[in-house]
Amino acid sequence: MKSVFLTTFGCQMNKADSELSLGLLLERGYRLAGDESAADVVLFNTCSVRQRAEDRVYSRLSQLKARKTRRPDLVIGVLGCVAQKEGEEIFRRYPHVDMVCGTRMFDKLPELLERLGSNGGHLLAVSDEKVVSYPRRRPPRENPHQAYITVMRGCDNYCSYCIVPHVRGPEISRTVEEIVEEAQSLVNEGCKEITLLGQNINTYGKTLEKGTNLATLLRAVSKVEGLERIRFVTSHPKDMTIEVLEAMAELPRVCKHLHMPAQSGSDRILEGMERGHTAQHYLELIRLARKLVPDIAIASDFIVGFPGETEEDFEATVRLMEAARFQNSYVFKYSPRPGTKASELLDNVPLELKKERNQRLLDVQSHISLEENKKRVGQIVEVLVEGPSKSNKKRLTGRTPQNQIVVFEGPSTIKGELVKVKIEEVTSLTLFGRLVA
Ligand code: 5AD
Ligand code: SF4
Repeated sequence: MKSVFLTTFGCQMNKADSELSLGLLLERGYRLAGDESAADVVLFNTCSVRQRAEDRVYSRLSQLKARKTRRPDLVIGVLGCVAQKEGEEIFRRYPHVDMVCGTRMFDKLPELLERLGSNGGHLLAVSDEKVVSYPRRRPPRENPHQAYITVMRGCDNYCSYCIVPHVRGPEISRTVEEIVEEAQSLVNEGCKEITLLGQNINTYGKTLEKGTNLATLLRAVSKVEGLERIRFVTSHPKDMTIEVLEAMAELPRVCKHLHMPAQSGSDRILEGMERGHTAQHYLELIRLARKLVPDIAIASDFIVGFPGETEEDFEATVRLMEAARFQNSYVFKYSPRPGTKASELLDNVPLELKKERNQRLLDVQSHISLEENKKRVGQIVEVLVEGPSKSNKKRLTGRTPQNQIVVFEGPSTIKGELVKVKIEEVTSLTLFGRLVA
């Protein structure tokens, strides 16, 4: 029985794909290796969203070279976004890699490994097949109370900086029936919270029957017996609809949380990014969201140092962040991705300036987060218990419907339960509280 070790880089979609891949391999008789050095098959599910993510994979591949020389029957496979993007090039640079498997071929993984056998070789499997559904078997999960369901694949947006449409192909949605069935089977296994995943989830259903959209999907999944919480990511401001906000307001199991990247607060830069929205449209949208969905928390992503970004543009981003009062924001330094439209523009913001803007934006957000979190002191919040806190094993951690992290003392036996916690102290990232009966 061969053992497999899979390392995942990148987004939640990748984590979900890794789970499905491992599920398939377990079904074929593989077992999970405890660590990479003990595995017969070493796989990487990769991310190409920024150069740094790619470089991390390359450095791991370099490290494996000596081991492969010592142990030629070791199988090394590169999956996912970098595999799709680089293809053959990976074999040229890392001849000790045996298999390169793109973003739409995960379901073929067992066959591919079988074809490689124990002789190794170079097996390239990247295609543009419109695979959207995968067999459902999943490996045992660390936290059986939470799960991701990929509801659509690919993206049709072509924001000028983004590699995703190039590596994950055109958008395609799974049917409502299939998703509901998967949700029900997860709930039957003890799952309480499901996160629906799509690169641009607001256009869910575009490839399906007319009238199917994210709002109808949320309504359908809400009916799954025993499911306590439903989340969905990622939202695009250009495609967000009133129907979705109304569904959020109306359906108690849908968490009042939106991850809706703004990317920039400068209209000039937003145009260069080909985002299809202005700063004003974005701010109006979140005003509407807060009106329709009381207590909604909104999180954003930003890119600093996009080609041509001036101090003035950056200040517009700071102003948008201050006006929007996000619960939290992820800030990234612009990284040119070959093949994207923006990569043809001169990457003219020096790295030092990107770093400085990155830090300034994080500081602004941290200040806002702290002020917003302070409003929670004294409130009783609902928490889905995830397990022991990383920083202090004696305490438990979990999340509120708004996706805030809560740390508190309690018995480890309540893992996976929904409990009430009274908030006593906060930092910009964490709420601390006491379990209430
Ligand atoms: N450079 C920097 N950040 C990027 N993102 C996407 N593409 C790039 C890029 N080329 C960021 C966006 C997106 C998040 C997942 O990654 O903010 O929302
Ligand atoms: Fe996810 Fe995009 Fe990274 Fe691929 S490139 S793993 S889709 S974030």
